[in-house]
Amino acid sequence: MNILFASSEVAPFIKTGGLADVAGSLPKALAASGHDVRVILPLYEGIGQDWRNQMNYLFNFNVSLAWRTPYCGIFELKRDGVTYYFVDNEYYFKRAGLYGHYDDAERFAFFSRAVVETPGYLNWHPDVIHANDWQTALVCIYLLEERHRIPMLYGTQSVYTIHNIEYQGRYGKDLMVDLFGLNSGYFHEHMLAYHGDINLMKGAIYAADYVTTVSPTYANELQYAFYAHGLEGVIADNRHKLRGILNGIDTALYDPANGNGIAAAFNPDDLSGKAACKAALQQAVGLRQEPNVPIIACISRLVKHKGFDLVTSAIHDIMAMDVQMVVLGTGDWGYEEAFRQAQAQYPGRFSANIMYSAALSNAIYAGADLFLMPSEAEPCGLSQMIAMRYGTLPVVRETGGLRDSVRPNGVDGATGFTFADINAKDMVWVLGEAVGLYYGNKDAWHYLQHNAMTADFSWNRSAEDYLQIYNWITGKEMHPGRPFEEGPAEPQAPVEAAPVPEEPAPAEETAPVEETPVKKRVTRKKAAPKAAPAEEKAPAVEEPAPVGEKATATEVPAPVEVKAPAVEETAPVEEKAPAVEETAPVEEKATATEAPAPVEETATAADEPTPVEEKAPAAEEPAPAEEKTPAKKASGRKTAAKKPAAKKASGRKTPTKKSPSKAAPNAEK
Ligand code: GLC
Repeated sequence: MNILFASSEVAPFIKTGGLADVAGSLPKALAASGHDVRVILPLYEGIGQDWRNQMNYLFNFNVSLAWRTPYCGIFELKRDGVTYYFVDNEYYFKRAGLYGHYDDAERFAFFSRAVVETPGYLNWHPDVIHANDWQTALVCIYLLEERHRIPMLYGTQSVYTIHNIEYQGRYGKDLMVDLFGLNSGYFHEHMLAYHGDINLMKGAIYAADYVTTVSPTYANELQYAFYAHGLEGVIADNRHKLRGILNGIDTALYDPANGNGIAAAFNPDDLSGKAACKAALQQAVGLRQEPNVPIIACISRLVKHKGFDLVTSAIHDIMAMDVQMVVLGTGDWGYEEAFRQAQAQYPGRFSANIMYSAALSNAIYAGADLFLMPSEAEPCGLSQMIAMRYGTLPVVRETGGLRDSVRPNGVDGATGFTFADINAKDMVWVLGEAVGLYYGNKDAWHYLQHNAMTADFSWNRSAEDYLQIYNWITGKEMHPGRPFEEGPAEPQAPVEAAPVPEEPAPAEETAPVEETPVKKRVTRKKAAPKAAPAEEKAPAVEEPAPVGEKATATEVPAPVEVKAPAVEETAPVEEKAPAVEETAPVEEKATATEAPAPVEETATAADEPTPVEEKAPAAEEPAPAEEKTPAKKASGRKTAAKKPAAKKASGRKTPTKKSPSKAAPNAEK
């Protein structure tokens, strides 16, 4: 099957969020099962020279964008079995940042036209074009007509994936004909019209042959206004072709056993290296060298829907426990400032790192003990899965992909801690449960760590689910040469069949006004895993409920005090902690090639940037303090090559010598 994957960002070339990770890993997984997978993205200014040196210039043409005919150069790079096409137009993409420009509608309409027109110039027929989020929504709409007009697109089907419904691409109606080049007939309620405006995501949901979102729970949540941001009716109207498929992560990249970018390698059966990672992290971010105090970590954009109202309003409650905390990320000033103040107030115990750093994020995933992700909404979330790979137990709100990827303490195969409502007190309670387990029941803690580290977060299963959808809409074989029966054993339930989550109860401080709080989801106690001998008397518990099952209300155990045990002073780790810094990937240079003819290969696999080099010595595990187990309240879910032209590596507006002699019209605006 020929698959063209269109995305406005793709790791490792350029990234602002999880969309890039998915666009960087799902195509690889699809290609690994024998399909011809090609990915197309804009050639942004931010794409480094090292990558450009591996690109080959293929050709250029002029895109049809209403009355505009902007230049479009196509560069190619091959890597890990996938072919990447970079769309070049310096007027649109030689700018700082990816999004947020006054003419984003025009920039991504141009890109979407380029996606649809490129196959014709490649003389390559995509069976499926897979578009993502609002930036490529127009691809699905343009395809409605172009698949009858461009021979290479005859029969091409479209899949549209919603990674975050909050960003829809809403513009004035006047752009439709003059900018998007669409007939005014597209302005109707079952296409682009939305309260008198144009809504690109809405149009794509109607126009696409199939729609997916990034977790089964999010697919269900989208029927509620709280989550759907005004598109709940559109979702309801298109439920028959909507499915939630949980994202995977690149498990080869995020593997503590290879030790890449972390102070010491470790694995599920030998966690000794994690102590060295913890000491290195404490050293790197200015936390006290206390091997026995749990570190709670947050790595995120600091924005409301990630749950930072809960975190900032509960900072003192969290720090009242015997814990350390490290935050990494940038975002809204109010959150940044709250974390800076916490750092000033809790020196050596709270570390605010208001920045973006891939190297430091690796050090945190590897060295922390708990990963806090209390999102109000989370379509999928990848960080919690990465944290689990490194034995850093997630504490998450039961929403979207968080709910689908974390099994709460108390059920078989538990991998973390969860709470149901958008409520800071519930979050603190569950953090207390986690901290209590850390101090009071090491065996149970290690049981969770082992489960988390061995859970399968690879793309293996989810890539099959996408192939099944491609198969449904195209009739093409999922596995050429293999009998159809060997397809995925168990299709996920369509959106209607999956369990319907309750509406979230609004956070005390932050709840949206329109939402009415709904009854709380269960409360049940959690059981320590059977395998874990409780050292102290753990509160009496019921049998762990199977995941997915809804708990029924239970008595909340009288909170036993959650006293974090005093920790003995430990000698600071002497060795130097590794300096955490960004390292540029090393790549090889491609050789120059001639224009139009697609060149075969050249690209060398570039290694992912990997940070920390030195090894910090393993700090010895001090004997766990024996204190009371904390009280628990169950949260309970039971549930260019420049080769292109050797000359200009960067995006060009004008063709190089080898390029066809078309003049490169400036993109008018
Ligand atoms: C968006 C979502 C995030 C998801 C990612 C990849 O960034 O907010 O939850 O993991 O897309 O699909």
